[in-house]
Amino acid sequence: MSSLVEAIAKQAQLTFSRNLTEESFLESLSKLIKNVSKVRAADLRLNKDVLRTVNSGNGSKIAPVTYIEVAENPTFSMGIFVLRSGAKIPLHDHPDMHGVLKVIHGTVKITSYSALANVPSDYKLPQVVSNEKEKIQRDALIPVEKHFSGNVTDKDEPCVLKPMEGNYHEICAVGGCAAFLDILAPPYDMNERDCHYYKHLEEKTDSDIKSWLCMIPAPQEFFCNSAPYTGPRVTL
Ligand SMILES: [Fe+2]
Repeated sequence: MSSLVEAIAKQAQLTFSRNLTEESFLESLSKLIKNVSKVRAADLRLNKDVLRTVNSGNGSKIAPVTYIEVAENPTFSMGIFVLRSGAKIPLHDHPDMHGVLKVIHGTVKITSYSALANVPSDYKLPQVVSNEKEKIQRDALIPVEKHFSGNVTDKDEPCVLKPMEGNYHEICAVGGCAAFLDILAPPYDMNERDCHYYKHLEEKTDSDIKSWLCMIPAPQEFFCNSAPYTGPRVTL
């Protein structure tokens, strides 16, 4: 019998294979979310020893974040992110991607934003942008609204992001080390779907749009190590 992890990977492959009608896709996605909601650290054999090894840096410089790849192909990627206590995955995007995130250890604070549609390209730049020391070009700015902000633990349902919903997020470990399973479809790709980083600017004046994201270089304090996956085998 296949493991829950393998069942999740197979369901992700089916969901994101791009040959489904919209209706079948939504049905398949909700089945995937239901499967992911059942996953616990033990299903991935993410135990104290693995967490200790990851947190000791395993001989190299200790990274704030470690990625354990479970499966990856052109359709989707599935892996475990382990965040050291107080570590943060800075605000970033997932261009044209879907994502399903399930906390399996500890607590993370997630803050996510959705891009606002139909904002004229000549919309007057907000005061908060003019206040910035460096000159910011309009095309480096994205008007957004807050999608979600709160603490998430392994007791909570998976968080889902879509191309136009909650596509920008930052994730911080709260009160200790934390880990989550992350499925992204299609996977990041340096040519077509690279990851971009942002800072959040909040407009205090009486303007229609209160929240903007400004593209920034990848924050230097953020880097990610990898560690081997030791959970049940995943064959697609
Ligand atoms: Fe992300």
